[in-house]
Amino acid sequence: MKILVATQKPFSAAAVAGIKEIVEGAGHEFAALEKYADASELVAAVADADALIIRSDKVTAEVLDAAKNLKIVVRAGAGYDNVDLAAATAHKVVVMNTPGQNSNAVAELAVAMMIFMARTQFTPATGSEVQGKRLGIQAFGNVGRLVGAKAKALGMEILALDPFLTPEQIEAGGAKPVFNLDELYASSDYVSIHIPALPSTIKSIGYDLITKMPKGATLVNTARKEVIDEEGLMKALEERPDLKYVTDVMPDNYETLREKFGMRVFATPKKMGAQTAEANMNAGLAAARQICDFFATGNTRFQVNK
Ligand code: 3PG
Repeated sequence: MKILVATQKPFSAAAVAGIKEIVEGAGHEFAALEKYADASELVAAVADADALIIRSDKVTAEVLDAAKNLKIVVRAGAGYDNVDLAAATAHKVVVMNTPGQNSNAVAELAVAMMIFMARTQFTPATGSEVQGKRLGIQAFGNVGRLVGAKAKALGMEILALDPFLTPEQIEAGGAKPVFNLDELYASSDYVSIHIPALPSTIKSIGYDLITKMPKGATLVNTARKEVIDEEGLMKALEERPDLKYVTDVMPDNYETLREKFGMRVFATPKKMGAQTAEANMNAGLAAARQICDFFATGNTRFQVNK
């Protein structure tokens, strides 16, 4: 079987070497398409691939149409909103993710971003400390729980909202359960977002929620830019000069936000939450192992388009 690693934002060389070793060790053929500039390159490269490992690369219906031999796509990471699941299912292609494998990297970045904003983006202006502040975690999954644990060690008070968990499960993760979004936002000096981009969550965080935050609050987004209603965010920042926004996923209106609000907003130029040597290795190798196991035994444990 030919297993193609297609990554616009490549894994580390060590992770690629590890993937190659697993693929070839299982008797498959390894191929790589890295730093490609245009989607047409992916369309051409998948023509004879049996399996595909991707990161945030877009697997559209066009890509799936071109991939006549494709049986499985593994998104080396958590969020699979970049894969057209309906088209994949129609093509009988199994789609998996590698949950948890890059969570620590994203959680460390979320904590770093809080401190970066609290300390005025590392300028000499007087900042504040996160100790003693309240952190609201929106979705207490793999990343959210790690953010909570790290922030607790910094002396923060942790609140969490997760519709899929019981209050007891949230408490067991070290956080105080909160039962609705309004309460989470109204009670938190920092809110860290960890929800996926779904039809129900896209543009779900806007003016009404953001303006519920207490004086001097900061919204931290290491999830997806799509979950923010950017117009609502702009209006909230205009009306509330005390609020701040920091994100690992550059908003479409970032230039305007920076012009209007300067240091109150910050976005990384390229999504970097999972861009650590460790996360590349964990997610990349997990993806390769899941594909080899799928071919060897039919294991579909991490399938997301069942
Ligand atoms: C994820 O969903 O796992 C993260 O957003 C990481 O995305 P990346 O692999 O494109 O860095």
